[in-house]
Amino acid sequence: MRRALELALNGPIKGLNPRVGAVLITANGEIVGEGWHKGSGTDHAEVAALKDLQANGRANLTGPIAKGLTAVVTLEPCNHTGKTGPCALALIEAGVDKVIFATKDPGHNSSGGAATLRNAGVEVESGLLHAEADDLIRVWATATAQQRPFVTLKYGSSLDGRSAAADGTSKWITGPEARRDVHRRRTQIDAILVGTGTVIADDPELTARHRDGSLYSEQPLRVILGETELDPGARIFDESEGKAKTVQLHTRDLNAALLSLFDMGVRHVMVEGGAIVASEFVRHNLVNEYLIYMAPKLIGGPITSLGNLGVANIGQAKDLEFTEITALGPDLLIRANERKN
Ligand SMILES: NC(=O)c1ccc[n+]([C@@H]2O[C@H](COP(=O)([O-])OP(=O)(O)OC[C@H]3O[C@@H](n4cnc5c(N)ncnc54)[C@H](OP(=O)(O)O)[C@@H]3O)[C@@H](O)[C@H]2O)c1
Repeated sequence: MRRALELALNGPIKGLNPRVGAVLITANGEIVGEGWHKGSGTDHAEVAALKDLQANGRANLTGPIAKGLTAVVTLEPCNHTGKTGPCALALIEAGVDKVIFATKDPGHNSSGGAATLRNAGVEVESGLLHAEADDLIRVWATATAQQRPFVTLKYGSSLDGRSAAADGTSKWITGPEARRDVHRRRTQIDAILVGTGTVIADDPELTARHRDGSLYSEQPLRVILGETELDPGARIFDESEGKAKTVQLHTRDLNAALLSLFDMGVRHVMVEGGAIVASEFVRHNLVNEYLIYMAPKLIGGPITSLGNLGVANIGQAKDLEFTEITALGPDLLIRANERKN
């Protein structure tokens, strides 16, 4: 399973499908086939491992190709025909004796593979290294279970929770290391979202750029939320070579916006501001993960990173827990989730 988890990491971190790895092993534990899922529309990990078994000449030549073998997979084999066929069936047809998977498939259409395998007489075991496997597919599994994109809220802030000085100047609160980290993370998500206020105030490009200003090859969809008609000459609408598409969702309804993004294939969206839109996502309990870049600066004054969260008294405060604190040059990256009781 450790090898299958390692293989899964070769898959794309974003997009419609999860990262999955699979190995085929003999009765004495020798690995004779390996595979991972390379993204939507390509072979699932189990099928890739079966093809590898054949390609490296280790397939059984008389009868089913994987007779006597065990398939070890990071995710429950799927049970439905999407862009590719069901993996449970592929494993049954290949003749595997046993399937060991780490974690269950949360998909509404794709789950049920374990039952299909058992009904066909295949021995099935689950739960091995499931915490690691869950972590690997956390974003995809959450989006699939919620039927809306996983929402990361990102903002830069001073130590006293300010996003700008009283005159509105905010470049730069955090240092170059923090900004580089943001740009790298933009390559790992499907979409970036900001409110119309940020486009008007900052005229941002919202691309993922290297240190020298050149574009990364992976660019997230750019999404603007709000009803205001914007200047079509704004930098965010420049879709010239290498830049991603930009869509404006002319609504303030966050749930409707998330549903349209899900329909467009977005599974992970990073909300990058400003304070009004960010606060609305928090107020409506729509944030799955917080990424706060905190600078050792004190600014004071009226421009806070978040505004009205609907918290009337301290008992209603949003209760978070830190999951990671990393130093980035002089700044801190704080990752947090809502506390689960
Ligand atoms: N420190 C940081 O990390 C960071 C990041 C980004 C921006 N900023 C700063 O934030 C400032 C802009 O922030 P902002 O708060 O004015 O703008 P914003 O949050 O980007 O946009 C606010 C606008 O979004 C629209 N909107 C969409 N959905 C909404 C909803 N559910 N509820 C309310 N409004 C909704 C509304 O405009 P419509 O009338 O068009 O619907 C609203 O006026 C800039 O000065 C920028 O520099 C800081």
